[in-house]
Amino acid sequence: MTFPTLFSPLQLGPLTLPNRIVHVPTDISSSHADGEVSERDIHHHEAIAKGGTGFVIVGATTPDMRTGRPTVTCLVADGDNYVPGLARLAESMHRYGARCAVQLQHPGRQCAIPRYNTLGATDRVLKLPWSAGHEIVYENAEEKGKEIREASIAEILELVDLFSEAAWRVKQAGFDAVELHAAHGYLLSEFMSPYLNMRTDRFGGSFENRMRFPLAVIDSIQKKCGKGYPILVRYSFEEWCEGGRDMAEGLETARVLERAGVAALDLSQGMQESPGAGFDPMQYPQGWATYAAEATKQVVKIPVITSHSLRDPEYCEQILAEGKTDLVGLARQLLADPYWPVKAQYGKVKSIRRCISCLGGCWQESLMAKHEIACSINAACGNPAYDDMTRTERPVQVAVVGGGPAGMEAARIATERGHLVTLFERSGELGGAMKYVCMVPGKEKMRWYLDWIRDQLLDLHVEIRLNHAPTVEELRGFDLVLNATGASSYVPPVVGDASRVVPFEEAMACPRVSCECHPGGRKMRKLGARVLLWGDGYAAADTAAWLADIGKQVTIVTERREFAAECEVIHMYVARKRFAQGDAEVLTSRPYRHPVTVITSTTVAELRDGSVVLQDASFGRSELEIDDVVTCHVRPELGLFAELRAAGVRVLNAGDSVAPRNLYHAVKEGSAFGLAVDEHLLFNPNGAIVDRLPIDVLAQLTRDDGPTYTATRMRELAETAGR
Ligand SMILES: Cc1cc2nc3c(=O)[nH]c(=O)nc-3n(C[C@H](O)[C@H](O)[C@H](O)COP(=O)(O)O)c2cc1C
Ligand code: SF4
Repeated sequence: MTFPTLFSPLQLGPLTLPNRIVHVPTDISSSHADGEVSERDIHHHEAIAKGGTGFVIVGATTPDMRTGRPTVTCLVADGDNYVPGLARLAESMHRYGARCAVQLQHPGRQCAIPRYNTLGATDRVLKLPWSAGHEIVYENAEEKGKEIREASIAEILELVDLFSEAAWRVKQAGFDAVELHAAHGYLLSEFMSPYLNMRTDRFGGSFENRMRFPLAVIDSIQKKCGKGYPILVRYSFEEWCEGGRDMAEGLETARVLERAGVAALDLSQGMQESPGAGFDPMQYPQGWATYAAEATKQVVKIPVITSHSLRDPEYCEQILAEGKTDLVGLARQLLADPYWPVKAQYGKVKSIRRCISCLGGCWQESLMAKHEIACSINAACGNPAYDDMTRTERPVQVAVVGGGPAGMEAARIATERGHLVTLFERSGELGGAMKYVCMVPGKEKMRWYLDWIRDQLLDLHVEIRLNHAPTVEELRGFDLVLNATGASSYVPPVVGDASRVVPFEEAMACPRVSCECHPGGRKMRKLGARVLLWGDGYAAADTAAWLADIGKQVTIVTERREFAAECEVIHMYVARKRFAQGDAEVLTSRPYRHPVTVITSTTVAELRDGSVVLQDASFGRSELEIDDVVTCHVRPELGLFAELRAAGVRVLNAGDSVAPRNLYHAVKEGSAFGLAVDEHLLFNPNGAIVDRLPIDVLAQLTRDDGPTYTATRMRELAETAGR
């Protein structure tokens, strides 16, 4: 067997886990508004169990909806009416041989609901812009903090009961275990934290006092569910903030929980105050948190789960075989590819779509936006429509123009469905904007997805024409065209010689001719020491990181009130630390030679020799000495699309050529196109492909009209039938 330890069983209390792979809890925020289990909840967890994960811990489920829901549509277990739905959820995983648990979580200060009268360990005003419990701030409104109220002793005691009643329902529903969420600054974690808990009563202060609430919950669950019912605890081994839990207390916590009868420890990291460690963005390397499990295993005998940025079965096998952990926990990896275990089992490691830790789909575009879960690189995540994907019996000829993520994903899905796809790319390499992003220090994981999808296209024998920008005449020969031509930079109106402004694409090109990020035929501009980036969004943030890393003195000038407002928040948290020549928790990158300065609500009014004139929102002007100006203003490339439409070619548009956005939108739109391509090629008046029509409507739209009904015609027909 390829991964003998990974696929060996493990005893967790009375439970025999079939293998060492754990789905660590992930709140997919896909339940009904009242917290009832939805078909999407079932579909999602069933796919993970089908994929071969041995132990699935369902994400945050609140024991008391009235005082706290971490996301607006998380699961709820505060009433017996939730038991039937939870039972269906458990059954959907048992069917595929998995063991399963529910994580009970009271979000406390980090709740999404209720918005007011929020319960916490301590009174405070909180501003956590990257928390899923953040308030939606209206456009142009000032962000305000959320007011938190200290829980009274009576409320704490009531919550002890509510937690254990919820655990009893989880057991009734047929789950094999229950987990307590005591990590990341949520309510139990807040009480346990030396940094967050400022209480002076018997629930605050000393380690013993801080552990009182979670230990009371454990005790109460044991009384209600019986000592044999396995309880796991997830806590942040280190909190990664000044005065927060350190390794010594992380180990002491493990000892105390084991003595309390906990069946296994699910070690996490960080809090909302240290979001890098809690929700590791791309910069965090695989295995950075393994040390915690290794150290914990020295002090306890119960099984230990390690997680955070685990992506490769080889690495997981290695740490298991070396005895550094008992179980490996995957969260986002199973959003990106729920079939990770079975692919590893069959030795198909190359086909695993590794999570690139972008947090674009599963955080920025879903939980942060108060939407249901999604993934940037797996459009099937949260979308059951992909389960019904079938091969066509009547393939059509499809041209995809543009080899960026939207085009590649469209080509992949359409080809999987049996259509005949030709993918045109005007440059010498597939990848589009991703090629630049891979060059940004800390964003190399983008390359994983790029390599994966390029491999898939090769395996599928998609016809790829590089260095080829097709004409309208060429494209007329296809049944259907997808325009995925992406976006490119432009220079806004400015006084002075605009031709001296460098497009960011030329500033970010690799100087090595052998590198795929070399601009090829396009010229590259050599930049001076002081560079002004004019614009916003990923183009500006990534170009700044690239230039600062190679030693340039970078100033960003943006017309917007807040820089990079649409970029993923936790990546921007890391980026801002690096702009200030520091780094996010745990990371130790080489500091930039110069800090990166950001000037907001300002534009470039005039270009001069060696300087620019800036103009702010109050029309105040100032001069800034600079060697080069790089534009990061980006707009869709729509020329070909317009020509095709005018020529009457059946064409759709997807990705950045609709509007410059992120990978999530590109893949989603490309994938949706691939799924919709149909032999009938019907378009509705909105310009969208109409697929999956009721057969009577499809027939009405496609068959030739017969003669119109008349009484004479009817008589003729009756006579013919009677003969
Ligand atoms: C969308 C999302 C939801 C999450 N929900 C939970 C949760 O409900 N409970 C929890 O303990 N951790 C939660 N986490 C943290 C993950 O379990 C995990 O610790 C983190 O994502 C790092 O591990 P990974 O690299 O395997 O994803 C969540 C993370 C994400 C991205
Ligand atoms: S959206 Fe990004 S971080 Fe989230 S699961 Fe998908 S690839 Fe991973």
